[in-house]
Amino acid sequence: MIPVRKVYLETYGCQMNVADSEVVLSILNNAGYERTDRAAEADVALVNTCAVRENAEQRIYGRLGEFRHLRKSNPGLVIGVLGCMAERLRKDLLQSESSVDLVIGPDEYRRLPELVEHALQGEKGIAVRLSRVENYDDIVPLRTDGISAWVSVMRGCDKFCTFCVVPYTRGRERSRTVRNVVKEITALVERGFKEVTLLGQNVNSYRDGESQGDFADLLEAVARIDSRLRVRFTTSHPQDMSDKLIATIARHDNICNYIHLPVQSGSDRILRLMNRTYTSSHYLNLVGRIRAAIPDVSLSTDIIAGFPTETDEDHRMTLDLLREVSYDGAFTFKYSPRENTKAWQMGDDIPEDVKVARLNEIIDLQREISLQRNRVLVGQTVEILVEGPSKRSEKDFTGRTETNKTVVFPRDDAAAGQYRKVTIDRVNSATLFGSLAPVTARRKAANG
Ligand code: 5AD
Ligand code: SF4
Repeated sequence: MIPVRKVYLETYGCQMNVADSEVVLSILNNAGYERTDRAAEADVALVNTCAVRENAEQRIYGRLGEFRHLRKSNPGLVIGVLGCMAERLRKDLLQSESSVDLVIGPDEYRRLPELVEHALQGEKGIAVRLSRVENYDDIVPLRTDGISAWVSVMRGCDKFCTFCVVPYTRGRERSRTVRNVVKEITALVERGFKEVTLLGQNVNSYRDGESQGDFADLLEAVARIDSRLRVRFTTSHPQDMSDKLIATIARHDNICNYIHLPVQSGSDRILRLMNRTYTSSHYLNLVGRIRAAIPDVSLSTDIIAGFPTETDEDHRMTLDLLREVSYDGAFTFKYSPRENTKAWQMGDDIPEDVKVARLNEIIDLQREISLQRNRVLVGQTVEILVEGPSKRSEKDFTGRTETNKTVVFPRDDAAAGQYRKVTIDRVNSATLFGSLAPVTARRKAANG
C-alpha cells in the first residue's frame, strides 16, 4: 500500500490567503494528501505568501531557510511557495532560493496535485498564469469545524492604487455566483458555524454574472440564510460603497454594524497620487451617511505613513481625519515601495526615521481615540459571540461584539459558540474585559 502523502501548509498575509489555503487543502485532499501540523514529518511543505510589503517577504524568506534545514533529516521534502510572492517573483524564487521546488500563483491551484507529484519525482515546477475567470467557485474549501468561517466571494482587484501590488499578483476582479456562495454558507450553518466573513479585495465591486446581483444583493441573500448567523464582510473601497449597501446593513440585524473602510491618507494631494479616486471630503461625507443610517456602527481603517512626497502638512491632515472620523481601530503601515507599481517610480523619499515618527504619532493618536470609544462601554451589557479560550490565558474566554471588539471574561465552557451578554467592567484601547450575564430564557431559545 502506498503511504498517504503528508502536506504541511503555513499561511501569511491577509484573510484572502487564509481562505485560499482552505481551497489549496481541499484540492490536495481530493488528490489523496493528508494535512499535518508538523513540517518535519511532511512530504510537502507549502507557504502561502504575501507580497504587499517588503517585511512580509523578508519573514517568508527566513521561513524558507528554516524549511531548508529540515532537509537534513527529511531529504525528500518538497518545498513550495504559493500566492502573491510566487506571482510577483516567479522564477527568481527557483533561482535565488535554491531550496524552492514549486512556485504557484493564486490562480493556478488546481494544478497543485500534478506539480507536487512531479516535484516529488525531483522535477521543479512553476505555474503563475493569472486568469480572468478562475474563482474556485465549485471547490468546497477544507475547513476544520469552528464558529467563524472566511468565505471568499470575489478575487482580484481592478483599482490599481499606485502603492499596491495586488492588481499584479491577484489579477483582474471576478466574482463567484450568489447561488454557490449561498450554498456553501448554508452547509456551514448546518455544520454549526455561527459567523461568516465575506471576503474580497474590494467586495463593493462584486457582481454576479449569473443573477446580475451586486454586493448588497449577495449580503442580503446570505443574511437571509439564518437570522442567527452573523454576517461580516471585508474590504470595502470607499469609492464603491453604495447607499443600497448601507441600507442593507442597516436593515438586517445579523449583518454586523462594523465596516472596514480604508482611507490610507487624509491629504487630497496624497490620495490623488495614490489613485484612491476620492477626496477626504467625499470620504467624510460617506462616513456621515453611514453613521446616519447605522448610528452604532463601528469603523476601522488602513493608513499608510510616509508615501512618496508626503509632507508634515499632509501627515497632519491624516491625524486630523483620524480625529474627525473617530475610528474604533486602525491598521497602520509604513510605506513600502513595491517594484513595478506606479508609486515605485515616485521614489521613496521619506527618510526611515520620519516614516517611523509619523507612524508612531498615528498609532498613539488612534490608541487614544480607541480607548475613548471603548470607555463609553464600561458598565454596559453587550452581546457577544463566544469564541473560546483566550490565547493569553487558559482561565479566560474571548468573544467579539457585533462591532468587532474583543471581549475577555472568565472561562465558562458551556458558553463556547453561544451568543451571550457580557457586562463590561474595564477596557483598554484594544480589548474589553467583563463577566458573563446570566442566561435568560429568551436567549436560551435564540442560541438554539
Ligand atoms: N506599503 C505600505 N502599505 C501598503 N498597503 C498596501 N500596499 C502597501 C505598501 N506598498 C496597505 C494598505 C492596504 C493594506 C491591506 O495594506 O493600507 O489597505
Ligand atoms: Fe490594493 Fe487598492 Fe486593490 Fe486594495 S483597492 S487591493 S489597496 S489596489
